[in-house]
Amino acid sequence: MVRAEFPMLVSLLLALVLSTGSAPISRAGTALNNSSDHFALLSFKSLIRSDPSQALESWGNRSMPMCRWHGVACGRRGRRRGRVVALDLGHLSLMGTISTSVANLTFLKMLSLPRNRLHGAVPSALGHLWHLKHLNLSHNSLDGAIPPSLSRCWHLERISLGYNRLKGEIPRELAALSNLRSIVLFQNELQGEIPHELGSLHNLKVLDLSYNKLQGTIPLEISNLVNLEFLQIASNKLTGEIPPGIGNLVKLGTLALSSNQLSGSIPSSIGNLSEMAFLGLGLNNLTGSIPSLHSLSSLSILVLAYNDLTGSIPAGLGNLTSLYSLDLQQNHLTGRIPESLGNLNLLELLDLSFNNLTGLIPHSIGNLHSLSEIDLDNNELEGPLPPSMFNLSYLNFLPPRSHTSMYNSIITSMGLFHLTWETTFQIYSSSLQISINSMVLFLPLCAMPL
Ligand SMILES: *[C@@H]1O[C@H](CO)[C@@H](O)[C@H](O)[C@H]1NC(C)=O
Ligand SMILES: *[C@@H]1O[C@H](CO)[C@@H](O)[C@H](O)[C@H]1NC(C)=O
Ligand SMILES: *[C@@H]1O[C@H](CO)[C@@H](O)[C@H](O)[C@H]1NC(C)=O
Ligand SMILES: *[C@@H]1O[C@H](CO)[C@@H](O)[C@H](O)[C@H]1NC(C)=O
Ligand SMILES: *[C@@H]1O[C@H](CO)[C@@H](O)[C@H](O)[C@H]1NC(C)=O
Ligand SMILES: *[C@@H]1O[C@H](CO)[C@@H](O)[C@H](O)[C@H]1NC(C)=O
Ligand SMILES: *[C@@H]1O[C@H](CO)[C@@H](O)[C@H](O)[C@H]1NC(C)=O
Ligand SMILES: *[C@@H]1O[C@H](CO)[C@@H](O)[C@H](O)[C@H]1NC(C)=O
Ligand SMILES: *[C@@H]1O[C@H](CO)[C@@H](O)[C@H](O)[C@H]1NC(C)=O
Ligand SMILES: *[C@@H]1O[C@H](CO)[C@@H](O)[C@H](O)[C@H]1NC(C)=O
Repeated sequence: MVRAEFPMLVSLLLALVLSTGSAPISRAGTALNNSSDHFALLSFKSLIRSDPSQALESWGNRSMPMCRWHGVACGRRGRRRGRVVALDLGHLSLMGTISTSVANLTFLKMLSLPRNRLHGAVPSALGHLWHLKHLNLSHNSLDGAIPPSLSRCWHLERISLGYNRLKGEIPRELAALSNLRSIVLFQNELQGEIPHELGSLHNLKVLDLSYNKLQGTIPLEISNLVNLEFLQIASNKLTGEIPPGIGNLVKLGTLALSSNQLSGSIPSSIGNLSEMAFLGLGLNNLTGSIPSLHSLSSLSILVLAYNDLTGSIPAGLGNLTSLYSLDLQQNHLTGRIPESLGNLNLLELLDLSFNNLTGLIPHSIGNLHSLSEIDLDNNELEGPLPPSMFNLSYLNFLPPRSHTSMYNSIITSMGLFHLTWETTFQIYSSSLQISINSMVLFLPLCAMPL
C-alpha cells in the first residue's frame, strides 16, 4: 500500500517543481539578473559576522567584477553568462547565518560552505534553486530541521549536511530527488525513522546517517538501492533485524551498522557482497552464528564485537587474506581458534577476547607477521603460548592500560584508521597455564604501517 502511494507523492512533487523552478524569476515576480546576484552576494556577506581569513574582503570591491570575488564562479555561456553558478567558501571559519538571499542566485549549481561556523537554519528558500546539484553545508553549527523544500531542487546530486545540529526527521520528500547520488547527514540530532521512501533513490551510492538518534527498523526498501557503495547508519537507536535483502546491494564496499540495538542473526546474504571492504556490526544485540564470509575477498576490516554471537569462528575467515583487522571480542563464541587464521598475512589487529574459546592457541598465529595488537583475554584457552608467537617482532612489556572505554569510542565511529593506532596489545588470560596472568604485552605503535 505504501508503495502505491509513493508514485503519487513523486508526481505531486514533480508538478510542484515544474510549476516553480525553471524561469529566472523571483518569488516577487521580478526578473533576476546579474544585478540581483550581486545584491544577493552582498546580503550573504552582510550576515557573516566574522571572517578571520578575510576571504570576503574582495566582495563588494567596485573595481573587481563580482565573478572574480573569492569563492564565486560565474557561467560563461548562454543564460548563465555572468551569473553566479557556484559559491565555494569552505574551510574559512566564517561565522554567521546563511542569508536567504542565496535563493536568488538563480543559476547556482553548487553551494559549498563546509567547515565554517555557520549557525541558524538551513534556509528553506534553497528550494528555489532549481539548478542546484551540490549542497555542502557540513561541519557547521546549523540547527533546525532539514527543509523539505530541498525536494524541489530537482537536480540535486549530493547533499552533505553532516556534523551540524540538525533536528527533526529526515524529510521523506527527499525521495523525490531521483538524481541523488549521495546523502550525508552524519552527526546531527535527527530523530524518527529512516523514511522507507528513500528506497526509491536508485542512483544513490552513499548514504550516511550515522551518529543521530534515528529509531525504528532499517527499512526493507533499502534493498532496492542496488547502486549503494557506502551505507553507514552506525550509532543510532535502530532496532529489529538487518534486512536480508541487504545481500542485493552487490556494490557495497562499506556496511557500518555498529552501535545500534539490532537483533536477530547476521543475514547470510551478506556473504554474497564480494566488494565489501569494511563490515562493522559491532555493539548491537545480534545473535546466532557468524555466517560464511569467505567470499568477501576484499574485506579488510571485520568488526562483530559486542554482540551475542554464538557458535564457532568459521575457518573460512582464514580465506579473507585482505583482512587487517578482525575484532570478535565480547560475544559468546565457542570452540577453537581456527588454525586458518594464520593465513591472514596482513592482519594487524586480532581481538577475540571475552568469548568462550577453548583449546590451544594455534601455532599458526606466529605467522601473523603484521600483527601489532592481539587480545585473547577472558577465554577458556589452555596450554602454553605457542613459541612461534614470540617470533612476532616487536614485543614490549608495559603496564596494562584500560582499553575498554577507549574501545567504545573507536568501535562506534567507523574508526577505520584509529583502530590500530589506539588500542593496546594484550594477550594475558587468566586461564592460560603459563605464568603470564597479569602480563600485558604491548607493541610499539611505530610497528604499524598505516
Ligand atoms: C536587472 O533587473 C533590474 C530589475 O529587475 C533592472 O532594474 C536592471 O536594470 C537589470 N540590470 C541589468 C544589468 O540588466
Ligand atoms: C551585469 O551585466 C552587465 C552587462 O553584461 C554589466 O555591464 C554589469 O557590469 C554586470 N553587473 C554586475 C553586477 O556584474
Ligand atoms: C579592489 O580591487 C582592486 C583590483 O583588484 C585592488 O587593487 C584593490 O586593492 C581592492 N580594494 C580593496 C579595498 O580591497
Ligand atoms: C530577491 O530578488 C528580488 C528581486 O530583485 C528582491 O526583491 C528580493 O529582496 C531578493 N530577495 C532576497 C532574499 O535577497
Ligand atoms: C563536503 O565538504 C566536506 C568538508 O570539506 C568534504 O569532506 C566532503 O567530501 C564534501 N562532501 C561532498 C559530497 O562533496
Ligand atoms: C548469493 O548469490 C547467489 C547467486 O546470486 C544466490 O543464488 C544465493 O541465493 C545468494 N545467497 C544468499 C545467502 O543470499
Ligand atoms: C541490547 O543489549 C543491551 C545490553 O545487553 C540491552 O541493555 C538492551 O536492552 C538490548 N536491546 C534490545 C533491543 O534487545
Ligand atoms: C579457503 O582457501 C582454501 C585454500 O586456499 C581452499 O581450499 C578452501 O576451499 C577455501 N575455503 C572456503 C570456505 O572458501
Ligand atoms: C561460557 O560458557 C559458560 C558455561 O558454558 C557460561 O556459563 C558462560 O556464561 C559463558 N561465557 C560467555 C562469555 O559466553
Ligand atoms: C622463528 O622464526 C625463525 C626464522 O624465521 C624460524 O627459524 C623459527 O623456527 C621460528 N620459531 C618458531 C618458534 O616458530
